Amino acid sequence: MKRLDGKALLVAGGGADGPPNKGESLAIGNGRAIAILCAREGARVVVTDRSLASARETAAAIVAGAGRRMRWKPT
Ligand SMILES: NC(=O)c1ccc[n+]([C@@H]2O[C@H](COP(=O)([O-])OP(=O)(O)OC[C@H]3O[C@@H](n4cnc5c(N)ncnc54)[C@H](O)[C@@H]3O)[C@@H](O)[C@H]2O)c1
Repeated sequence: MKRLDGKALLVAGGGADGPPNKGESLAIGNGRAIAILCAREGARVVVTDRSLASARETAAAIVAGAGRRMRWKPT
């Protein structure tokens, strides 16, 4: 049982602007980070963004399980 099983999350601004950090394949902003982390914990996540391409990137990262593989660390 994951911590957010049965929960649903809607993230506004769930994409990310800017280039990825060095050594990472995906740019990370607050919305993208929370979307990936909550999906990893079992939530069903709806990602919205003013950039559809960026929202789709987040959705693809969730589907690909990128949240587990990324080397991103909170600071
Ligand atoms: N308090 C802190 O410590 C702290 C730290 C980092 C960032 N921030 C703030 O948090 C905010 C987000 O930062 P980030 O690094 O995650 O940014 P980001 O630019 O990586 O991500 C923001 C996302 O929101 C989307 N967006 C912007 N306006 C939108 C709108 N009207 N509707 C839908 N989507 C929209 C953008 O397209 C982008 O994908 C900024 O205001 C930043 O200053 C605060």
